[in-house]
Amino acid sequence: MEEEFYRIKRLPPYVFAVVNELKSQARARGEDIIDFGMGNPDHPTPKHIVDRLNEAAQEGRNHRYSMSKGIHGLRKAVCGYYKRRFDVELDPDREAIVTIGSKEGLSHMALAITNPGATTVLAPNPTYPIHVYAFVIAGADILHVPLLRAEDFFDALKHAVEHTWPRPQILMINFPANPTAMVVDLDFYVKVVAFAKEHDLIVLSDVAYAELCFDGYIAPSILQVPGAKDVAVEFYSMSKTYNMPGWRVGFAVGNARLINALTRLKSYLDYGLFQPIQIAAAVGLNGPQECVDEIRELYRSRRDLLVDGLARAGWEVDRPKATMFVWARIPEEYRKMGSLEFSKLLLQEAKVAVAPGVGFGKHGDEFVRIALIENEHRTRQALRGVRRFFSAGSDVAA
Ligand SMILES: Cc1ncc(COP(=O)(O)O)c(C=O)c1O
Repeated sequence: MEEEFYRIKRLPPYVFAVVNELKSQARARGEDIIDFGMGNPDHPTPKHIVDRLNEAAQEGRNHRYSMSKGIHGLRKAVCGYYKRRFDVELDPDREAIVTIGSKEGLSHMALAITNPGATTVLAPNPTYPIHVYAFVIAGADILHVPLLRAEDFFDALKHAVEHTWPRPQILMINFPANPTAMVVDLDFYVKVVAFAKEHDLIVLSDVAYAELCFDGYIAPSILQVPGAKDVAVEFYSMSKTYNMPGWRVGFAVGNARLINALTRLKSYLDYGLFQPIQIAAAVGLNGPQECVDEIRELYRSRRDLLVDGLARAGWEVDRPKATMFVWARIPEEYRKMGSLEFSKLLLQEAKVAVAPGVGFGKHGDEFVRIALIENEHRTRQALRGVRRFFSAGSDVAA
């Protein structure tokens, strides 16, 4: 028992824990901290979905073990969504599986397809931590591909593939991206599929933010590319689209062999989500979608409030076309200190908590991620804090 456990040893201390700890200490001192740290939706799930959960929970037959790969009705609803939204045909029995949130799905897919010590994964940097750590836990090696501009991605990918032996086998992608909010068009995916076929790569695509798009931008799916199913699986989540993060409902769809591998692994590990949750999730996908328009509009208005307010405070940041995040480049005078120190300073001086970009990978260190999860009133309060901090703060920047 003296030796450190192999997998635990591979997990570095959580960068976000530093800011979280300072936040807790400040709150314990009675300070009012505006928390933009975590992408955790603050509004409740739409009522018709909750109502269906309540109803289904009253029925005893829904209390039994469910199906590990998800009930047929929910897999069918997922395939219906892909048909309506992307015009992609999927077989609910062979090409779709329900997961316990997309995080679980991704993690177990990594475990299912990693050959420990022999699998290398290309992962964007910066990226949502599970895109990397699912594979670290599974025993794969990671090749970090810098990704701050979509136009540079293929050169970086090519470089990574050509300079690695044995060649990488898996490519992880996520657009619209967390944390950078980067978006791509269908041509980008055409190139990804061609690249994957040329280099014999499996592609795992995470589209958790596919429905949170603004200003007329509509996120594509990699599965829209003809032949994508030969190489790709896509992970979708109900957490953000329907304000259902606590319910833990996600899916994986696409390549039947990969879906089968995940299905097989999960059949040993779980009995599926509580059935009333699955029934209600199907209602979410099949039912009225005005709730999604409202959720999207909420993030859009918060985005504009924040981006415009920061600009007035002298902090110009990009206005994201999608996601629930603003990926803000640290103002020049503070950039050298790095994102962790800047986040600490923002917490102490402006009473605002954000996620340091370095927590998503070293290429994120000139940025912080601001999650749009505080209401208008709190966001305005945060903006006043930022303005006060900037107008008083030239000595701290030195
Ligand atoms: C890009 C991305 N993928 C996956 C997830 C996890 O989603 P789920 O709640 O479905 O596990 C998140 C959550 O923040 C995310 O940002």
